[in-house]
Amino acid sequence: MFIPAPQKPIRVKPRFLTLARISTHAGICLWAVCYFYQAFTGALPGDPVQALLDFTGIGALNLLLISLVVSVLSQHLKFSQLMRFRRTFGVYAAVYGLLHLSTFIAFELQFEWALVAKEIVSRPYILLGFTGLLLLLALLVTSINSIKKRMGPSWQKLHNWVYLALILVNVHFIWSTKSIDLQAIIYASLSTIVLLSKRKKIIRIFK
Ligand code: HEM
Repeated sequence: MFIPAPQKPIRVKPRFLTLARISTHAGICLWAVCYFYQAFTGALPGDPVQALLDFTGIGALNLLLISLVVSVLSQHLKFSQLMRFRRTFGVYAAVYGLLHLSTFIAFELQFEWALVAKEIVSRPYILLGFTGLLLLLALLVTSINSIKKRMGPSWQKLHNWVYLALILVNVHFIWSTKSIDLQAIIYASLSTIVLLSKRKKIIRIFK
């Protein structure tokens, strides 16, 4: 880790934490609302459907990466309060993933359900994205406190699938570009760093 670990655990005032959480929710929601508004009013340059697919896809990946980085930082900096943000970012990663799928179904395939099914089974990169999204949705549903409590230790086992989701989504991204794309390589490199920083935990999962 490039940041030196502090001697004492970090703690901030609950009031500051609440403000930070409200700003995070507002920022992530407004970001999507403004972008969709611009797409619907023709304010975006180029093809609005492609722009929405790119925005929601990259947005979901950014949020998923941030949720994992937050957990690494929280442990390294002994800043346990940060873990509350992990769930927030993880939940929004799934929500942006759903917006991405909805954009694809509504604007690219015009709700032709037979075509949607055909795309998922016949195009491997779509199947990978779909599997990644199913995993994120399973994590989203089980992040509800009452379900988490009822699941007991199997909750952690299920939530370890987030690393597989990250890998699937990166392969989906690289494959979707159909050529060597710098942005996809940067995301794959960042994801590899995150996975390497969690290597002890990942090795334990597979033992
Ligand atoms: C059912 C699920 C999914 C479907 C049908 C789907 C579909 C697509 C499509 C059609 C594209 C555009 C390819 C092109 O430009 O020609 C794309 C790109 C992308 N998707 Fe997905 N996707 C799914 C799930 C996901 C998930 C869960 C994530 C992230 C968490 C994701 C992240 C991305 C990214 C980062 C791109 C590249 C955007 C860019 O080129 O700027 N996708 N996806």
